[in-house]
Amino acid sequence: MKNFKLAVVGATGVVGRAALQILEEKKLPIREYSFFASKRSAGSKINFMGKSYIVQELTEHSFDEGFDFAIFSAGGETSKKYAPIASSHGCIVVDNSNAFRMDNNVPLVVPEVNPEEIKNNKGIIANPNCSTIQAVVALKPLDDKYHIKRIVYSTYQAVSGAGRDGIEDLENGINHFQKTSNVNIVSSENYKLKKFPYPIFNNCLPHIDVFLDNGYTKEEMKMINETRKILGKPNLPITATTVRVPVFNSHSESINVEFENNYNLDELINILKNSPGIKVIDDVTHIKYPIATQATGQDSVLVGRIRRDYSIQNGLNFWCVADNIRKGAASNAIQIVEKLISNNT
Ligand SMILES: NC(=O)c1ccc[n+]([C@@H]2O[C@H](COP(=O)([O-])OP(=O)(O)OC[C@H]3O[C@@H](n4cnc5c(N)ncnc54)[C@H](OP(=O)(O)O)[C@@H]3O)[C@@H](O)[C@H]2O)c1
Repeated sequence: MKNFKLAVVGATGVVGRAALQILEEKKLPIREYSFFASKRSAGSKINFMGKSYIVQELTEHSFDEGFDFAIFSAGGETSKKYAPIASSHGCIVVDNSNAFRMDNNVPLVVPEVNPEEIKNNKGIIANPNCSTIQAVVALKPLDDKYHIKRIVYSTYQAVSGAGRDGIEDLENGINHFQKTSNVNIVSSENYKLKKFPYPIFNNCLPHIDVFLDNGYTKEEMKMINETRKILGKPNLPITATTVRVPVFNSHSESINVEFENNYNLDELINILKNSPGIKVIDDVTHIKYPIATQATGQDSVLVGRIRRDYSIQNGLNFWCVADNIRKGAASNAIQIVEKLISNNT
């Protein structure tokens, strides 16, 4: 069996650190690892699989030594500059940023949904947006059987989705509240906000990523366009409202779907139960439904509150929760690397 060489770019960030933890858990046949970040963290140490590694500064020459694979989680600008350099040296990049997701030459892959796209890569494979990944894992088996006609997404997204600065904004808000008992923090007067325009503590902000000319946020348009690309339905009517909520980790989503075909609810629930990557938790008699703290730390997409939407024909509502750092980013990327390895051995 071949032994592979893997680079993790953005190894000191929220997604990068989760990637290291998952790589430790999975023990893939990888012989050599290198960890990269910006100048800020270069020289710092990372303990990984019982060994101490020095974080290296990412430069144009980082890929000269020849890697088989690289997982990039260091923002779109870093990916745009360095992923083509890496792939020109024969390294296959799995990119967590939004730099290449809508590029027609770059497969956008969720292994439970469209693994066949992996072989079409020309050196870069894009990992979808975290809120899209969990939604399409649940929607794909339903689309195969009942043919989706329209989707309405409403998301409740955790602060870890905004990286280290997002987590710090919530922590600082909680600390400030503990000192002052003032829940009505409406501005940044009392502590510095690093990521969000308003305090995320005690607020829901209907604003993720930047606002676009059409009145939607970029996060909303990512969900719309990436879902269409992954499901192979370029004209599917989809709308989305994405909201940041004061939850540390794991995104929750209310998903409303309209199908072309009639469905039987018991059969539909069985399809979800038997599809890869999904755990159905739906027992309202015993007050059981998916919640963020339960999803955190696992790779499954949790689905519950599955019920008919009586306002339209063939309508369905469900609640979908997943760990945005694991399945929404690091685990999905590592699953892709696993598939690349098994295609190469
Ligand atoms: N958080 C999520 O739920 C999530 C989900 C899906 C995708 N993503 C994407 O994954 C990427 C990373 O997100 P994150 O949440 O992990 O962010 P983060 O916690 O802010 O970490 C950013 C990482 O990128 C590194 N970095 C920044 N600029 C760099 C540069 N010029 N060269 C090399 N490394 C650089 C940082 O290194 P330093 O330590 O040196 O600053 C750090 O390791 C983003 O593109 C994000 O959109 C995030």
